[in-house]
Amino acid sequence: MGLSTSLSRKLGLKYPIVAAPMFILSNKEMLVACAEAGILGAMPSLNARTPEAMRSDLEWIRSKTDKPFAINMTIGLTDPDRLQIDAALCEEFEVPVWITSYGNPTEFVRRAKGVGSTVFHDVVNLKHAMKAQSAGVDAIIGVAAGAGGHAGRISPYALFPYLNANLDVPVIAAGCISTGRQVAASLALGAELVYMGTRFIASTECGAEEAYKQKVIDCGPEDIVYTNKVSGVHGNFIADTVPNPETGEGAKRWKDIWSAGQGVVDVHDVQPIETIVEGLVREYHDTVAALGS
Ligand SMILES: Cc1cc2nc3c(=O)[nH]c(=O)nc-3n(C[C@H](O)[C@H](O)[C@H](O)COP(=O)(O)O)c2cc1C
Repeated sequence: MGLSTSLSRKLGLKYPIVAAPMFILSNKEMLVACAEAGILGAMPSLNARTPEAMRSDLEWIRSKTDKPFAINMTIGLTDPDRLQIDAALCEEFEVPVWITSYGNPTEFVRRAKGVGSTVFHDVVNLKHAMKAQSAGVDAIIGVAAGAGGHAGRISPYALFPYLNANLDVPVIAAGCISTGRQVAASLALGAELVYMGTRFIASTECGAEEAYKQKVIDCGPEDIVYTNKVSGVHGNFIADTVPNPETGEGAKRWKDIWSAGQGVVDVHDVQPIETIVEGLVREYHDTVAALGS
């Protein structure tokens, strides 16, 4: 049996895997490599420093692939004028998947639907998931404890089935998914896509500096700290890059403070995205076969 779900098929993906958007790190090269590898690549709109840069990124992506990709708009964290421009660019380029976070997705759902696009919204609890579902999003990303970036407090074991049982729209699993075994586990818990950030920091195409990639390889889960002192919202960071996790003093935000999730434990090398995806798929099939035997 192939590795696919009804949502991955609907989106035209070969595999039900998303390379999740990562502030500063995700880039157009990742999006195209993901598209070619059969998964969905995503980039925060703010990774293009200016609207002009975003336009040229979108032109470049469109010239390289006709497969789906996603742009993330961080509603409450983005200047409202910039947000309007980014949404207009997503309409103009008919960006296939819009990923909204940190705010009310209602307006984005309306605009995305106007150009036939799909909207995912990310949440850390059921309350926000219900609101986003009412706003009309197509799928909910449940961000569990241990995820890279801003993360929730609920274990993946509890969060994914909990959302699945209480929502009508598909659930996308995020948090500590770095291997094909965890892909299998997430699908077993009812997810229709898996949403992976930390594993893709250590990809050849990722814009992170080499020392950051190496740090992700070297760290274990004990090296990750959960704090709200970096950005005001709780998230996971590599502890020894956070000057003072208790007070946030000396913090220079995301550029110098490196975020990663507890899924660092399963990241052992920097590989091209195509190789990472091949490994995930192989391990998924091995896992399912071993469970069935
Ligand atoms: C360095 C870093 C930056 C991130 N930036 C964003 C962001 O700009 N917008 C967003 O919605 N999520 C962001 N995230 C969260 C990811 O999209 C995703 O939810 C998370 O990485 C999944 O957990 P994992 O890292 O355990 O795979 C970021 C994560 C990391 C590691």
